[in-house]
Formats: sequence, structure tokens, C-alpha cells
Amino acid sequence: MTASNSAVIETAEPTRKSSISPADPCTLVIFGASGDLSRRKLVPALYGLAAQNCLARRFAIIGFARTPMTDEAFQQAAVDSVKKFADAATLREEECKEFANALAYVSGEYDHPESFEKLRKRLEELDRAHKLNGNRLFYLATPPDIYPIIIEQLDKAGLAKNPNGKSWTRIIIEKPYGRDLASARKLNQTVLKAFDESQVYRIDHYLGKDTVQNLMVLRFGNGIFEPLWNRNYVDHVQITAAETLGVEQRAAFYETAGATRDMIQSHVLQLTSLVAMEPPAAFDATAVRNEKIKVLQSIRPFTAASIKKDVVRGQYGPGGESKNSSLLAGYLNEPGVAKNSPTETFVAASLLIDNWRWAGVPFYLRTGKRLPSRVTEIAIQFRRAPHLVFRGQDLSSNTLVLNVQPDEGISISFHAKLPGQEMKLKTVTMDFSYQAAFGGGERSAYATLINDCMRGDATLFDRADGVEAAWSLVDPILNYFQSNKPKFPNYAAGTWGPHEADELLERDGRHWRNP
Ligand code: BG6
Repeated sequence: MTASNSAVIETAEPTRKSSISPADPCTLVIFGASGDLSRRKLVPALYGLAAQNCLARRFAIIGFARTPMTDEAFQQAAVDSVKKFADAATLREEECKEFANALAYVSGEYDHPESFEKLRKRLEELDRAHKLNGNRLFYLATPPDIYPIIIEQLDKAGLAKNPNGKSWTRIIIEKPYGRDLASARKLNQTVLKAFDESQVYRIDHYLGKDTVQNLMVLRFGNGIFEPLWNRNYVDHVQITAAETLGVEQRAAFYETAGATRDMIQSHVLQLTSLVAMEPPAAFDATAVRNEKIKVLQSIRPFTAASIKKDVVRGQYGPGGESKNSSLLAGYLNEPGVAKNSPTETFVAASLLIDNWRWAGVPFYLRTGKRLPSRVTEIAIQFRRAPHLVFRGQDLSSNTLVLNVQPDEGISISFHAKLPGQEMKLKTVTMDFSYQAAFGGGERSAYATLINDCMRGDATLFDRADGVEAAWSLVDPILNYFQSNKPKFPNYAAGTWGPHEADELLERDGRHWRNP
């Protein structure tokens, strides 16, 4: 980067390697710029992109929020959050200051047309001064109930449509995208009244993780896995997204969501689609999203009877140990949580995909807070060898484990002969580690996705029918538990959830991997 005027970055010719070409010049407007998401994720991700020369040569950012703030105060807040949350390897004092110079701030009410008029003027000013080609990217990072208000105001201010044939306007919409099928449909209607679907980027940050994208590479970039990837060879699939953290400071949001909405409807079903999809005709937005949506449409819909049998919810009570060796608080004692809250912090479910590839193969999904380890993994458990010639040896079946995080990589277990005279077998693993193969320097999922959006690539974003398909699956579960409330809390913090979750697999003669 070279020094530049306020509110714009001009990058020099790339000095560090970046594998992709820089995006078009544009202005990015962050709605909810004084909030947590912007501070912890978006601003550091944008800095990371600038530092790797992945942003355009000319680029500006406008923060928009209610809190009154000057450009300078917003720039200082950005420097603070970059220092705290950006990848330390990319941190350079000078670049950090230059990056902050590209930031401007507009304070306003989300439902006031005058605020959007102010925003429009600022956009035009920056555009003219820095030749940003009229390209605009709006990022909705506010609480979700404000999304429709912002979208309507953008439309009224004439900011939603592409300003001319040569420029683009796009919008990134954060999750949660609705809170059930009806509200997601309504949001889609509001969004599509103002924007064309091709302008809309519904974000799920899991899709920006390298290990999640690698799932498609593993399956469709290699010849050896795909022939085994079906009901003839796979016994079952386990997908776990476990967190050690509790609800932290997010009770206000979490109390309205719970684990089913927060994790299953989005991240976990995204992983399920990627594991189960058919090979797309091409690696592009239409082909990939068509195949992912077909998976969601093939999952056997939940009914009251199947939910009773196949879905387990939990809420953590006191347990485990905090850093100072005291007991961790239960969910009901977390700040901001109602004393008799029915919100679930754990869900496990067994589902079936009714198609030729997967008929009869259970997919076991599980997510929860305050579990014993932080791990997101997909385990493909293969069928046992059909005939055991090594009598008397208790052989487990082969498992292919895709570690999404934190030990990013892939491992496959198989059996080997122990050295020595006797024919004794032992299960061993062959491991691929991202860290060992490619070194550290994890790229933020947000950086990947923002950059994709700036380059007009929607492959890793959700389409309107995709979010609706996911909500269609989850809606019956939400409705069922409205009137069938389990007794909470039902698992201790620091354990793998309620015992009913174990029984879900045990009844099928299987068990969870508890990594
Ligand atoms: C968010 C959820 O979407 O994903 C959080 O709202 C959750 O509750 C988080 O903690 C998990 O993301 P990651 O990338 O840390 O696995």
C-alpha cells in the first residue's frame, strides 16, 4: 500500500503474494459499524485483504450506525480492532494507519430517509474524488430485525439498483436470515423487491473456511474417494460442531435463537449439503448451489413422530471447571438469560437423505455450547470388511475424518500389522495437516467471502431457495419443541450433552466419536 488521501486506499503493485487478482475499485458500506461483528470480524478481515493486496487499488469503507462518531474516532476504533483481532502475521503499524485512512463514518437512524440521503451524498463524494467507478457493496451487520428497514431505505434513496450499466451494487446479508420459514420468505420478498437475486449475497461464514471448501476438492478433485462415497460403502456420517464457550455476552440474541436456529439451520446443514451433494457440472454459483439445494430437498422431512425419536435438545447446567478452577455457570445463570429459559444450547439429530446415493445411511448431526472440546469435524464411517479373515481380532471400521477446526486437516484410519511374530492388528491413522503442509497464517473466512463478493462470485453464498429449503427442514423441529419442552438443564457444562444424545446412536448399534 502507499499513503493516500483520507477515506481511500491506493494499493501499490502487489508486493506480497496473493493467489487471486484484486477486486474492482468500490466503496463498502458497513451497516452496524459500531457493533461487535464489525469490530471483531469485518474490519480485521478487510485489513487482512488490504495487507495481502487483495483489495482494489482504489477502495473506501463507510461505517454507518446510530452511534454519533467522527471519521477520526471510527478510524481509531478500527486500528484498535485490527490490533486486537487481525492475524498477527499481517500486522504492520504503517499499513494499519493507511488502512484506517480509508475509513469514513456516517451516523444516522436506520429508518430516517435523511440519513440515507446523507449516506448517498458521502458515497457520491468519495466516488467522484477517488474514481471508485460507482461500485458499491452494502454489508448488513446490524441486528436482523433492522434488515428490512435498511433495505427499504436503500431502495427509496435510489441506492439499491446498479447506478449505471458499467457499475455494480451488491448486498451481503448476515445470518440469521429470518427466524423461521415464514420470516425468511418475507425477508426474501423484501430483499427481492429492492435488489435482483444476482446482487444478493447471503453469507454463512462456514463456507469461507478453507477446510469447508476443501470438502469439495477432496471429493471432486480426486479420483479415489468419490467411488466410495455412497450407501454401498458408507455406514453412516457424523457431523459435530462443538464449542467449549458458553453463551458469553450474546444472551440477548441467543435467547431468541437457540442452537437449532443458530447452528443447525445454517452451518451444520451447509456441511451436510457439501458432504452429500452430487458432483456439480462446474465449480460455479449456479451449478454448486443447485446441487446443494437438492440435498436439502431430499432430506426426509421431520414429523412429530420422527422428532420425538430422532432429535434431542439440551441446555447446559453448572459443571466443568473454569480457568480459576471454579464451577462453570449453567446457562440459566449466564448474564441476560431468563431464569426459566427454554432455550436449547445443544441439539443432536439423526436424519436420512432419500436419494439413490444415500438411502438408508444415517447422518448424525450434533452441535452444542460448553462441550468438552472445541472441534468441528465430519466423520465418514465406512462399512466393515465383509469377511474377517483375522479371527479373534476386534476390528473397528475405517473412518475418514475431516477436521474443519481447530486442527485443520484430514485423517483416515485403517488397520496395520503390529511388528512381531504374531498376526496382531492395530488401528493406525494417516494424517494430512494444513499446518504441516501449508504453514500457518489462517485466512479469515470473512476475508475470503467479502473478496468473493467484490469479484462477483456467489458460489459460496446462499440463494433465496437455499435458505428457504433449510428453514423448511428446521421449522417442524422448532414448532414441536414449542409444546414439548424437555426438562432443562439436562447436561453439565464440560460434558458431551444429554445422555439421550448418546442413546440416539446406541439404539442403532453405533456411538459418537468424542474427539
Ligand atoms: C456463529 C454463531 O454463527 O457461529 C455462534 O452465531 C457460534 O453462536 C459461531 O459460536 C461459531 O463459529 P466458529 O467459526 O467459531 O466455529
